[in-house]
Amino acid sequence: MSITFKKVEHIYSEKTPFSYHALKGVDLNIEKGKMTALIGHTGSGKSTLIQHMNALLLPSAGEVHIEDILITATDKPESLKPLRKKAGLVFQFPEYQLFEETILKDIIFGPKNFGINEDEAIEMAKKVLKMVGLDESYLEKSPFDLSGGQKRRVAIAGILAMDPDILILDEPTAGLDPQGAKEMLNLFKKINQTGKTVILVSHDMDQVLEYCDEVIVMNKGKVEKHVSVDELFKETSYLMSLSIDLPIITSFIHELNQNGFHIDPTIKDMNKLIESIGGELNE
Ligand SMILES: Nc1ncnc2c1ncn2[C@@H]1O[C@H](COP(=O)(O)OP(=O)(O)O)[C@@H](O)[C@H]1O
Ligand SMILES: [Mg+2]
Repeated sequence: MSITFKKVEHIYSEKTPFSYHALKGVDLNIEKGKMTALIGHTGSGKSTLIQHMNALLLPSAGEVHIEDILITATDKPESLKPLRKKAGLVFQFPEYQLFEETILKDIIFGPKNFGINEDEAIEMAKKVLKMVGLDESYLEKSPFDLSGGQKRRVAIAGILAMDPDILILDEPTAGLDPQGAKEMLNLFKKINQTGKTVILVSHDMDQVLEYCDEVIVMNKGKVEKHVSVDELFKETSYLMSLSIDLPIITSFIHELNQNGFHIDPTIKDMNKLIESIGGELNE
């Protein structure tokens, strides 16, 4: 198992009048190599949960294991460096964290901090910049001259430059145009296909259906479900009870099935759906 949570609690501002119990008894096992979506309402604890995966937050109680590294309330890993290299976390709106004068400097900041020499770091910067869809001419530009979407790509490149085993993304496509969002998701899928674990916080169920293997549903600080994507989208009434929008195709199948069809709700592909409808009409 690459990521394990055992009875994890998180209380913000514990023992103050402002204390808030954001994670309650979280048990989780996320297998290596999977692409897992983390969904749930705003305030359900998604961002709090993922910040435990690289010890930005420590559990108030319980244990977090990231491969062979243990994190508890009292056992902060002796050196966070190996953990930060292992688990790369891209915050929501990471573009606000760019701070160097050139894109190159911004991207090599992390790798250099981990002791990689300058030449290697520069090679890495070129490689990851290309991965996020920007050419080498950007290296000497200022991150502040870029569009919002380009800044986001640079921020993601900075995390990829550390070559993490686990890539954690907090709503990476929020506010991007559909084409930009699609390119980004394709990139994460490609990274996942090289054997890396990807955790994706998302509100977009079409993304979850198309790209992810498994889904974790958070509700009021608890993990309510951890199932395969197929399992989740079979449970249309459960999703509707959470007022989670179904993926477009799943919603369409649901409508058809409400009207006498018996179509497999796990179909993800429009051609397959058309085939199934045709098959039933010909019966
Ligand atoms: N730094 C903080 N101090 C106090 N409460 C917080 C803090 N950060 C988040 N919270 C609260 O914890 C709950 C979970 O927040 P969060 O993990 O950001 O949820 P999500 O990412 O699912 O929207 C929310 O009610 C939020 O207001
Ligand atoms: Mg959040």
